[in-house]
Amino acid sequence: MSAVSKDAKRVTTHILQKMKDEGERISMLTAYDFSMAKIIDSAGIDVILVGDSASNVMAGHETTLPITLDQMIYHASSVVRAVKRALIVVDLPFGTYQGNSKKALSSAIRIMKESGAHAVKLEGGESVKGSIQRILSAGVPVMGHLGLIPQSIYKFGTYTVRAKKDIEAQQLLKDAKMLQKIGCFGVVLEKIPAELATEVSESITIPTIGIGAGNGCDGQVLVSHDMFGITKDFHPRFLRRYMSLFDDMQGAVQSYIKDVKSRDFPNDKEQY
Ligand code: KIV
Repeated sequence: MSAVSKDAKRVTTHILQKMKDEGERISMLTAYDFSMAKIIDSAGIDVILVGDSASNVMAGHETTLPITLDQMIYHASSVVRAVKRALIVVDLPFGTYQGNSKKALSSAIRIMKESGAHAVKLEGGESVKGSIQRILSAGVPVMGHLGLIPQSIYKFGTYTVRAKKDIEAQQLLKDAKMLQKIGCFGVVLEKIPAELATEVSESITIPTIGIGAGNGCDGQVLVSHDMFGITKDFHPRFLRRYMSLFDDMQGAVQSYIKDVKSRDFPNDKEQY
C-alpha cells in the first residue's frame, strides 16, 4: 500500500479522491455477509461493495433484477457489523430508483438508516440524473455505474462488451462528465473497451473503478465469489481467480463425509 490508504484509519469518499489525485489505485471487492466482509476488510481493501450481484451469487437468481430493498439492507447491515476500515457502498436494487426521484431518495435513506452503510451506487446516466440529484441533496454520497448495467439486461439481451461504437462511447463519456458535474464521488465502468475507460478516467476528476474495463481506471472491482473461485461456470476474460475455493471446499466436505462414515470423526479428543 502506498501513502494515502496506508494512513487512513477509515476510508472515506475524500480519501478515494485523494488516492486518485495522488495516483494511488483503489481496490474494491464485493461482500454480502459478516464473515466474508471481515476477511476482506481485515486484508486492507479500500472499498466494499454490497452489490446487487448478491441476487446471483447468494440467492442463485439468473439476473440482478429480483433482489429487493429489504434483502439489500439485510446484506448491507451484516457487512457493516464486520467492517472497521473500508468504505461501504450499497447497490440500490432494480425498481427502487428508476423514474421516480422521490422513491429513489426514500430507498437511499432506508439503506443509510437501516444498514449503517456509507454510500449508495446506482446504474445509468442521463435517465437517472433526477434520482441521483435528489439523493445527493440529502447528503448521501452516490457512486455511478456506466457501461454494462446488469439491471438493464433485458433491454440489451446480452452481457457483451458495451460502448464499442463511437456514438455509444461518446454518450458514455458525456454521462461520466454529467455524473461528476452533479456530484457523484466515483463511477464504476463495467465491460467497456480499455481505451475508452482510460479516456473517461483521464477526462473526469472523480475516481473510476473498472470491471472488465482495463488498466487505465483509477481502481478495480471484482465480485468476491468470482475472484475466490467459489463460482465455477463464469469465465469472462477480465476475471482473475486468486483461489479455487469451490474445489477446496468441496474436497473438505468429501473428507468430512468420509470421516463421519468411517467413524473416524469425532475422535477421543473431539468429545467430552
Ligand atoms: O453488483 C455488483 O457486484 C456490481 C459490480 C459488478 C460492480 O455492481
